[in-house]
Amino acid sequence: MTERLNCSPDDLIAVEIQAFRNATRDINFDIYLKLSGDNVAHVFSRTTGLDYKRLAQYIQRGVTHLYIHPNDFENYKTFISKPAHVVFSDPGTSQERKIASLLNMTEQNMAEIFTQVKMEEETAVNAQRLIKSYVDLVTTSPQTLAIILKLVSHGEYLYYHAIAVSIFSMFIAKASGQFNQRMLEIVGLGGFFHDIGYTQVPREILYSPGELSPDQWKLMRSHPKLGLKMLEGTKAIPDEVRYIVYQHHEEPSGRGYPNSLHGPVIYYPAKIVALADGFSALISKRPFRPPYSVEQAIKIIQDATGKYDRDLVRIMASVFLVRQRQAA
Ligand SMILES: [Fe+2]
Repeated sequence: MTERLNCSPDDLIAVEIQAFRNATRDINFDIYLKLSGDNVAHVFSRTTGLDYKRLAQYIQRGVTHLYIHPNDFENYKTFISKPAHVVFSDPGTSQERKIASLLNMTEQNMAEIFTQVKMEEETAVNAQRLIKSYVDLVTTSPQTLAIILKLVSHGEYLYYHAIAVSIFSMFIAKASGQFNQRMLEIVGLGGFFHDIGYTQVPREILYSPGELSPDQWKLMRSHPKLGLKMLEGTKAIPDEVRYIVYQHHEEPSGRGYPNSLHGPVIYYPAKIVALADGFSALISKRPFRPPYSVEQAIKIIQDATGKYDRDLVRIMASVFLVRQRQAA
């Protein structure tokens, strides 16, 4: 949209678009984009805040600068001096605020991931940094789980699902007693990226309200392979993460896809992510049903013979049922 400014477009102050990466969503100033000629679009406002998806699209399209009104420049400077990671590492900040700022950063990272055809190094490195922070939270603060559980049933599905699967996977992995810090990060990253292949599936198929044709199903079920392709050549992503992305729909019974692998040959961390994935989907609100409670979701998973690793299901039930009681 183009609008009349109370200053000349030449007076607007250029700021680097990169400065808004990892910033919090709330802004107390307006942000403009210069179009051709003297046209200026008001792209983000102080009332609605930053829209991470749109920001990622601008970056993807090669926009390098956004513009601030001179009257707002002081507000901008204060804003930019407190990026989310500073809030996160401040020892005086409450756990809830820390998680909120971490989720903010993650949501922005997700928005970037979802606009890329190939994973860019910088995005992957950012994701890794985020997962490290989550590992810190998972290992030091059991309360994280309760907060995330609450969020998942209310939040925007695609983003929160990825975050939730990542965190749930790390909790299950930690409870299994078989994972060191590095492997916890691998599982976290695998959970975070497991469904990125869906970004390559056309929206009309992904969000189709009707029945899918056999060809459309085939495309949907190719998302592990598409995800693997997206991560190809991204140096910051370890191979183990690729195995997880590729195998997260395999089932111990051999009825999974894409390779109908049987229990013992499925990569163990991929089994963890598969379980966290199933659990997160059940406790999330979907257009076609309300969310299941944690107890109901665990019961459904326990009854799904052959779909998940039995020992992991036992571990998961103990982790989530105990935490759920603590959170109540
Ligand atoms: Fe998936």
